[in-house]
Amino acid sequence: MKLLLLLFLCVVGTLAQVEYDDYEGEAKKEPKATVDPRGHRPVSRGRETYSSGPAAPPPVSGASRYRGRPTAAPVGKVKVEKEEYPESGGCTHMSEKMGVLCPTGCELKKTIQKQERNVKPTVDQLKRSVDELTQSTNSIYGYVMDMTAEVAQRQRVTEGNGMLVGQYTDSLETQHAYVKDAVDVTFPQNIKILQAVLEKIREKIQRLEKAVTTQRAKCQAPCKVSCPIPVVSGKECEEIFRKGGEDSQMYLIRPDPLSMPYKVYCDQTSQKGGWVVIQSRMDGSVDFGRRWDDYRRGFGNIAFDVGKGHCETPGEYWLGNDRISQITKMGPTELLVEMEDWSGSKVYAQYEQFTVQGEATNYILAVGRYSGTAGNTFLDGATELFGENRTMTIHNGMMFSTYDRDHDKWIPGDPSKQCSKEDGGGWWYNRCHACNPNGRYYRGGAYTKYMAKHGTDDGIVWMNWKGSWYSLKSISMKIRPFFKS
Ligand SMILES: *[C@@H]1O[C@H](CO)[C@@H](O)[C@H](O)[C@H]1NC(C)=O
Repeated sequence: MKLLLLLFLCVVGTLAQVEYDDYEGEAKKEPKATVDPRGHRPVSRGRETYSSGPAAPPPVSGASRYRGRPTAAPVGKVKVEKEEYPESGGCTHMSEKMGVLCPTGCELKKTIQKQERNVKPTVDQLKRSVDELTQSTNSIYGYVMDMTAEVAQRQRVTEGNGMLVGQYTDSLETQHAYVKDAVDVTFPQNIKILQAVLEKIREKIQRLEKAVTTQRAKCQAPCKVSCPIPVVSGKECEEIFRKGGEDSQMYLIRPDPLSMPYKVYCDQTSQKGGWVVIQSRMDGSVDFGRRWDDYRRGFGNIAFDVGKGHCETPGEYWLGNDRISQITKMGPTELLVEMEDWSGSKVYAQYEQFTVQGEATNYILAVGRYSGTAGNTFLDGATELFGENRTMTIHNGMMFSTYDRDHDKWIPGDPSKQCSKEDGGGWWYNRCHACNPNGRYYRGGAYTKYMAKHGTDDGIVWMNWKGSWYSLKSISMKIRPFFKS
């Protein structure tokens, strides 16, 4: 009996603690450093489980936190995980041809709603636990009452029998006292703790609901970014630079005289300027887990005005595959990829040759002539890997893939083997990547497979610099006409 009770109380104790931590301490938890290189999807059997490596499985009661992690995905699993993919962020583009995009507040809405979804089951579970506990407290209370009666009865019976039964009665009384104490003191205490936790979570949900409502209201009307358009414009940033537009900021460019001009951020400072920024990540404010059409048209925020009267602060965006392709087809184009880690170190990768084919061929990527300090992920693949494991991470020559249009080299036709679904963004995935600039944004850098949605290295990864399990603070891709110097 004693043992049973102790066990029960222990379970209750841990329940209260773990569930509480689960919600409160999410951000505080120090990620376990995992160093095994990922990125590739090896051909050998059994590796689809991602269960190799030294990290221990998460504690059972905390498992809800890792809901997205595939637990030893069975081979031949055909069922596609039902996944909610974000739409345009609750914002309508004001005028497509102008490339006007939304402020970041609307992105927040989805994040909050996602959190809300995760917390609700926890609260339900907690409520059930409290109910169960109350019930068992009642039944134990009944049991104690019976026992009390029995003790009294026995005391009457044993009067006269004296020493013989005395010993038995003593032990019965001790047990009785113990159980009574548990029922009177310990159980109510535990229930109180649980109720306090429940109340706290309820409060938080209320606050979240309020925030969601506010965001919903804010995102009802189309969002506007008010950036005055500079007087200087041109075919592209390089021409703007030559015309005297030497400040890095948002400009209007018109690479194709037959199409409408559009807004873009020109980097006029790096390596003598003239760069059209085609991709930018810097704070995780824009969701990059988007469908094909979004990647084709472009999405995100070109730039912000921070009070100086012009938009000199770039936002997070993807210029759009059609536009990128169109610019690279105008003539020899070079690519500069600049990145920074969370301690402020910066490296770059440069390709003197960069071409993206049109949509008809799914935007095939071609790069050439690397130089730089970040590592040649596009042409060499991940240098931590060897043999075919490495070649399957080379990006050069790949088609573009999004979660709704799979053109990667990982078992084509198998919906459970799609790089873009697992690695977070649209990209020129092979099987799968050595770099993942459109992946998920993880604050602080280091992350683990338990934090990843599918247990894969889905962060903003540049393997040849920081490995699979480090997500960069910022990265940008920019292009300009290539001139032989
Ligand atoms: C490829 O990767 C798998 C698992 O990640 C490993 O077992 C295998 O030895 C690797 N092959 C080479 C050639 O390194």
